[in-house]
Amino acid sequence: MKIAPSILAADLADLATAVKHCENGGAQLIHVDVMDGHFVPNLTFGPPVIADLAKRSRVGFDIHLMVSNPDVLLDSYLDTQPTWVSFHHEATTEPVRLAETIRGSGAGAGVAVNPGTALDEVLPYLEHLDFVVLMSVQPGFAGQAFQPHVLDKARRLHAEIAARGLSTAIEMDGGIKPGNLDEVAAAGADVAVVGSGVFAAKRPVEALVALRRQANE
Ligand code: DX5
Ligand code: ZN
Repeated sequence: MKIAPSILAADLADLATAVKHCENGGAQLIHVDVMDGHFVPNLTFGPPVIADLAKRSRVGFDIHLMVSNPDVLLDSYLDTQPTWVSFHHEATTEPVRLAETIRGSGAGAGVAVNPGTALDEVLPYLEHLDFVVLMSVQPGFAGQAFQPHVLDKARRLHAEIAARGLSTAIEMDGGIKPGNLDEVAAAGADVAVVGSGVFAAKRPVEALVALRRQANE
């Protein structure tokens, strides 16, 4: 299982250092939480910030769009040439069209589902997705408590992907720490997003290396 550090939990006055920490800790993906102050009660990074950070990063970005109008904003984030982009199932009535737009740009297309959203809502268009983000916290802030009921969702999604012979990846996002990392991996997650578990540590690089070792990345 891969670890994708979430820079939302880093020192937001020094994001270039946060990216360096991710690189030095061996991350293969950097999770970038975009929030619009409407879909979630927080406001974070716009395309200019992400574009400049991407220029300084050897590691690809996994942009998580927590925005109410992904269809309007998507292209400006795709222009930063991320590796992955996810938008929220709850924020659109045209998930397949958005996924195709993302794939057409060369990035991997993902849909994020809140803890309270039923998996059945995403299964009908699973084959259009490169990954599914199972939110294990309510989106909006780093540092929240993990919601263990989402592990059942991961197990069911993993079984569904296998039954259909798909290669859709499962990313779990929120509240993941060394104490629940093994359960997240056992439930079938391919990527675990970790924010405060990396950046609240005294030595973020060492915390990231330890998490990657525990995840057998
Ligand atoms: C929450 C974000 C998560 C969060 C992860 O809305 O999507 O990526 O930053 O941070 P932790 O690991 O501290 O929950
Ligand atoms: Zn996220």
